[in-house]
Amino acid sequence: MGAYADEHRRSLEDPEGFWGEQARAVDWFTRPRTVLDAGAPPAGRWFPDGVLNTCYNALDRHVVRGRADDPALVFHSAYSGTRRTYSYADLLQEVAQLGGGLRELGVGPGDRVVISMPMVPEAVIAMLACARLGAVHSVVFGGFAAAELAARIDDARPKVVLISSCGLEPGRVVEYKPLLDAALERSTHRPDYVVVHQRPEATAELRGERELDLAVLMRPGQFQPAGCAELAATDPLYILYTSGTTGKPKGVVRDHGGHAVALAYSMRAVYDVGPGDVMFTASDVGWVVGHSYIVYAPLLVGATTVLYEGKPVGTPDAGAFWRVVSEHRAKVLFTAPTAIRAVRRADPEGAFVRRYDLSSLQALFLAGERLDPDTFAWAGETLGVPVVDHWWQTETGWPIAANPRGLEPLPLKPGSPSVPVPGYDVQALGPDGAVLPAGEDGALCLRLPLPPGTLPTVWGDDDRFRRSYLDAFPGWYLSGDGGHLDEDGYVFVMGRTDDVINVAGHRLSTGAMEAVLASHPAVAECAVIGVADALKGQVPRGLVVLADGVTTPAGQLEAELVALVRSEIGPVAALRRVDVVAALPKTRSGKVLRRTMREIADGGPGVVPSTVEDADVVERLRPVLRDDRAG
Ligand code: COA
Ligand code: AMP
Repeated sequence: MGAYADEHRRSLEDPEGFWGEQARAVDWFTRPRTVLDAGAPPAGRWFPDGVLNTCYNALDRHVVRGRADDPALVFHSAYSGTRRTYSYADLLQEVAQLGGGLRELGVGPGDRVVISMPMVPEAVIAMLACARLGAVHSVVFGGFAAAELAARIDDARPKVVLISSCGLEPGRVVEYKPLLDAALERSTHRPDYVVVHQRPEATAELRGERELDLAVLMRPGQFQPAGCAELAATDPLYILYTSGTTGKPKGVVRDHGGHAVALAYSMRAVYDVGPGDVMFTASDVGWVVGHSYIVYAPLLVGATTVLYEGKPVGTPDAGAFWRVVSEHRAKVLFTAPTAIRAVRRADPEGAFVRRYDLSSLQALFLAGERLDPDTFAWAGETLGVPVVDHWWQTETGWPIAANPRGLEPLPLKPGSPSVPVPGYDVQALGPDGAVLPAGEDGALCLRLPLPPGTLPTVWGDDDRFRRSYLDAFPGWYLSGDGGHLDEDGYVFVMGRTDDVINVAGHRLSTGAMEAVLASHPAVAECAVIGVADALKGQVPRGLVVLADGVTTPAGQLEAELVALVRSEIGPVAALRRVDVVAALPKTRSGKVLRRTMREIADGGPGVVPSTVEDADVVERLRPVLRDDRAG
């Protein structure tokens, strides 16, 4: 470990020198004189006196430097068969046009815009148009239900909500306008305008003067195209809501300056993608992976990003990813392990892989959930390229641990996302806050200051930021993941230590699902646990204790509860099984033993703590938890 170790050490010993240098990869209207203001509340700010615009960096500067005709974005839809390439000049023109339209609706710096759109170019254009104006976008994933959308609208208080008329899922058209109407019935906040991108598969009905067709805003010549606002590096670029330990989603804030610098650095150091390279990130713009590596990072460095609307399998087959890679000559493919497991299940021999010319592909990056060694091995053997597991979170916005391919490819170890990325000091801490020796599991924490690009706070709630991440171990950021480092400094992430679960790479809160189950009148008490699943990594399972006098048959109640979670949280929650039980195991202080239940469901012995109130309850639950009736 030469180049990597040197760079990592330097980034920790002299963060200001290190990040000051990295900041040169970004164009500033005013160069920052201060790199880090460590004392700024709540946990320091990067480049506090720098002035820039992220959209300028993602689009204008490439056009200005003679790359107007180079491809910026390639849209590839597995549903409609559409292939459309936007050059940097095309994308800039559309973004400036929409920026002008939004400005006409009164959107300016600091105003929020909620965007709920599927994987269509208009989603990217909308995000960049906000960045151009200095408006703060908050993209909401299409797989959430109205209540989740309403919670985000109430927290972000947007001036405008931008949606598509529909998203496409295998065998069904998901209409967004009825979803938004239902959300607005629940929310207390009212946006000034709703703007709808009409797709051919479904036309949304527009009512009144405050519901507009996106095509009107985008019409060339209709409004003066927008220029780039000059923004403080610390101004918010976006809010992205993610599951926390309570039912209320947390608004992770991203700033302009630190984000642009960190993403540009990650493209060089981790992904080894630069101008002229093609990056295919198969995720969704509604998740952080989509924000960072479909939209911002590839454009910031002048690469080409592929926006793929479709699934890894079934649209129409398990060759979808390879088709996209070969057609667009992608150098890097980035997705979640679940997607690869789905492909493997449908095509175990890799027959589809052999049908395509994958000679452009140099690495497969995986993140979002634990990468099981089996999938790691299969992907490596089948594709013949390095399979790079890397670990990060919505909060950090870019990788915490990875194999730094751009600096120095290091040996890969199955089960590990390799080493801390420069900028991150990762340690496992014991309950007393002491750094644990190699090999010992503890709470994975990041020593403050966090590097640029990571969340400076939770939207509108510095206290929640402190409580969630800083209070557990003073001087450290608590990642919420448990694990250890080995003698070589490789990080091993063993799983969440809170009630966040990862279902098919989607981050969900079991606490939020419990709140929904508990709202059903037949339910007296409930618990939701994440249990291991061969395809999705984890799936939620519910256990409920009936209220006195309830006689609803268990099957009917289960169907009602499954439907309730789907309608309150969304299809993406994927809760399919709820068992009625006589009692839930608890400690004497009343804490439900979720971990013990999860261990039993996963086939382990299930350690019963000495503080258990009634050990018999656990014993009676064992057969229910072990029974894999879902198959
Ligand atoms: N809009 C509306 N509904 C959506 C949706 C969206 N954007 N995304 C998913 N859903 C729905 C699905 O249609 C499904 O509905 P159903 O219960 O009616 O079948 C439900 O939410 C669960 O979806 P999912 O968990 O994704 O399961 P799946 O069986 O549809 O697909 C995989 C399984 C593995 C193919 C899929 O999960 C996948 O592609 N995963 C990749 C993960 C990923 O991109 N993660 C992002 C972080 S990198
Ligand atoms: P999200 O905020 O949706 O990106 O989810 C972040 C969480 O996903 C992390 O806290 C981890 O629990 C999990 N995760 C992400 N990447 C990995 C990885 N490479 N290995 C293990 N878990 C991961």
